Amino acid sequence: MYSEKTVLTGIKPTGTPHLGNMVGAVKPVIELSSQAKRAYVFIADLHALNAVRDSKAINRNTYEIAATFLALGLDTTKAALFRQSDIPEVYALSTLLMNVTGKGLMNRSHAYKAVVDRNTEKGDDPDAGVNMGLFTYPTLMAADILLYNADVVPVGQDQKQHVEFARDISGSFNHIYNKQILSMPEPVIQETANAIPGLDGRKMSKSYDNYIPIFAEPGQLKKSVMRIVTDSKLPNEPKDPDTSTIFQLYQNFATADQIAFMRSSFVKGKMGYGDAKNLLLEAITVYLEKPRETYETLLAQPEKLDEILAQGAAMARISAKRTLEKVTKAMLGRSPSY
Ligand code: ADP
Ligand code: TRP
Repeated sequence: MYSEKTVLTGIKPTGTPHLGNMVGAVKPVIELSSQAKRAYVFIADLHALNAVRDSKAINRNTYEIAATFLALGLDTTKAALFRQSDIPEVYALSTLLMNVTGKGLMNRSHAYKAVVDRNTEKGDDPDAGVNMGLFTYPTLMAADILLYNADVVPVGQDQKQHVEFARDISGSFNHIYNKQILSMPEPVIQETANAIPGLDGRKMSKSYDNYIPIFAEPGQLKKSVMRIVTDSKLPNEPKDPDTSTIFQLYQNFATADQIAFMRSSFVKGKMGYGDAKNLLLEAITVYLEKPRETYETLLAQPEKLDEILAQGAAMARISAKRTLEKVTKAMLGRSPSY
């Protein structure tokens, strides 16, 4: 189904990737990339800049995300893994696309509107604290997507609107310049209905501080698992696996037999939460044993990661240059001289 498609996604380096990100985003993107004709996976460091002013944090998170994708099996012979900021063409295309992007479209962006609504509620100036990086965020994202002629863009539900904006902007450009230069990307939405729960039972998220980093130190992992909130049912009381955070997490790491065993033990009142937590800890540890080795080796060698990211950027720039050349020609009647 995807064998003729170009798959692309960006991940903002604004935190250490957690188990929710792994199950809901990293693994599905690796899977889609392996089925696609080609894939682009980039760390969206330019998109982090409207909120993060600490370059060290951006760089640390960039390495963590890159090492995570590599450790979990992204095939870099097919997928270009790179830093968004390593592609000069994306800054250029973003500026060019501004001219075919309605301001009204940007006004409707959820991320911007959320800030305006908050300000209005407080009686502040609607645009208080809003920089142009936030306001024009979807235009840069459209440039990211259109530069590589992406067809399929796997994203979380919160980013669907931005991919739709990329379609609007592409359509507007192709119409104004009467050319079929830019692609019509389709969002592929990662289900949030099955969101991985966090330590407190709500959706695992950076914003709730209830997450388990994918490659947490063994001691920290143990502490996190032991902290998972449960009800106060005794070991011999029947429990509902489908509302248990422990069981929900377990399903993503254990074998089918192990999952069936925990389910029936819960239902029959034959397993306490303490034992279940130990089984979960064991399953996560086994599942991530090999990837962890790769992850740690890579993080200890940032120069190796830089090299892989630079190779990915070189691969990505082939398409980026081609698209920018066509767009510049259509808009300015000449190719860029650089
Ligand atoms: P966070 O909520 O921690 O800020 P993001 O919004 O940055 O996470 O999500 C990045 C990606 O990870 C998205 O594709 C999103 O769908 C996925 N994701 C995040 N949290 C979860 C979760 N708890 N379960 C499943 N997928 C998740
Ligand atoms: N805006 C996305 C997020 O916050 C990250 C991103 C940047 C992206 N550029 C993209 C995602 C292009 C998909 C395609 O999660």
